[in-house]
Amino acid sequence: MRPENDPDAEWVGALSGRVPASVRRAIDEAVSQRRLYASLARRHRAVGRDSYVEIDAPLELHALVRLLRPAHIVEVGVSSGVSSAYLLNALAMNGRGLLHSIDLPSHPTPRQIAQGSDRGSWSLPPGRSTGWAVPPALWRRWDLRLGDKADVLPILRGQIPRIDLMIYDVPHRCEVLAEELRAADRLFVPGSVVIIDHGPGGGRCDALATWRWARGREPVGRSGLGLFGARAIRPDTSARSGRGGRAEIGGGSSSTDARTGAG
Ligand SMILES: C[S@@+](CC[C@H](N)C(=O)[O-])C[C@H]1O[C@@H](n2cnc3c(N)ncnc32)[C@H](O)[C@@H]1O
Repeated sequence: MRPENDPDAEWVGALSGRVPASVRRAIDEAVSQRRLYASLARRHRAVGRDSYVEIDAPLELHALVRLLRPAHIVEVGVSSGVSSAYLLNALAMNGRGLLHSIDLPSHPTPRQIAQGSDRGSWSLPPGRSTGWAVPPALWRRWDLRLGDKADVLPILRGQIPRIDLMIYDVPHRCEVLAEELRAADRLFVPGSVVIIDHGPGGGRCDALATWRWARGREPVGRSGLGLFGARAIRPDTSARSGRGGRAEIGGGSSSTDARTGAG
């Protein structure tokens, strides 16, 4: 397990719309959060894991939360809770905001455990539950919901007033993701940011491009990763008026995050 050492400031700048000096400060602050990193590493070592799957850009997540100061973050895909911990730590520093996380826990089979092949995957260590690595001091702003996103997302959508930041790090088919973004449409506001992880080397699927189309900002990829984000700059009026227009769900290609390597 190694700390991220090459945060992409340009990506954070494009998604946050903030000037480079502010972005630099937010990233420098993220880098300085060594206690959180050390705590996550210690917890993983204690269960015999020296590597684990996590979103590959936790420092950028910290910086985005500090710059956007979101009231509501939706995270789909938690596993041990590494990305959640970075998001929650930044929310704690903001002193406001909630993280709503959804996860269908994945446990290794006895065979995977015997072969040791569970260790580089996102499956939970034996006896642990989703988000187990998140330090308890950060739980206060956490609304963690267990279950299939197909069941939990519709409930969550009915319970929160808006989505300022969405992190989607879960195996998916492009057309399902497009439908999930469309269903959440009324919750996005100008300035909302959506980030989709297609796994290392994964190409961007059409869902994010379709989502951004009605709002006018091209999705941007985090350098070197299959991680893409887009920022809403205006409400999707065509979808709201029921005319569909450019917000139609297109694509047909599918994208499945099949990563198994360590983060
Ligand atoms: C790549 S991991 C998440 C890693 C995490 N974001 C991080 O950076 O530490 C994907 C997670 O999504 C969960 N998952 C898989 N299918 C799901 C579904 N249909 N609904 C909700 N969660 C799901 C997996 O069990 C796993 O915990």
